[in-house]
Amino acid sequence: MTFRKVDLIFVVLALLVVGGVALLPSPRDRNPRVPANSTHQAITVESQCTTCHAPQAVRPLPAQHPKRQDCLHCHARAQG
Ligand code: HEC
Ligand code: HEC
Repeated sequence: MTFRKVDLIFVVLALLVVGGVALLPSPRDRNPRVPANSTHQAITVESQCTTCHAPQAVRPLPAQHPKRQDCLHCHARAQG
């Protein structure tokens, strides 16, 4: 099999696309972070987040907030 110039161009373009997508910032980097206070550090299970972040609780979620339970998928923990 001979390796033609178009093949090389294709390989280079494919690598650029894969590399570019890998470098895109994760949305997690831009969402509000989980505060690094003792309240939040004590919580290790995502299902416990809604004891405070629920409609009648201490800190309700905004009305537009996604109705998903995998909180830490979108909210990174703040360093501290
Ligand atoms: C004991 C109650 C409580 C629990 C449990 C709790 N939070 Fe919170 N959370 C708060 C309060 C109160 C605030 C707002 C004041 C503050 O910054 O600490 C807050 C603020 C936040 C914020 C917003 C920070 C900002 O910059 O506006 C995020 C994100 C958050 N919590 C995520 C979580 C996640 C994810 C969990 C589960 C791992 C969780 N919380 C569990 C009480 C709680
Ligand atoms: C699909 C991604 C996603 C998931 C999953 C998610 N959130 Fe959020 N959350 C966001 C975004 C985006 C914002 C910022 C919304 C805004 O500023 O209007 C936010 C904002 C918040 C805030 C700040 C609200 C405020 O008072 O300013 C808290 C607290 C919070 N989320 C808690 C949680 C908890 C608890 C869970 C799990 C039950 C969770 N989030 C799951 C994307 C997500």
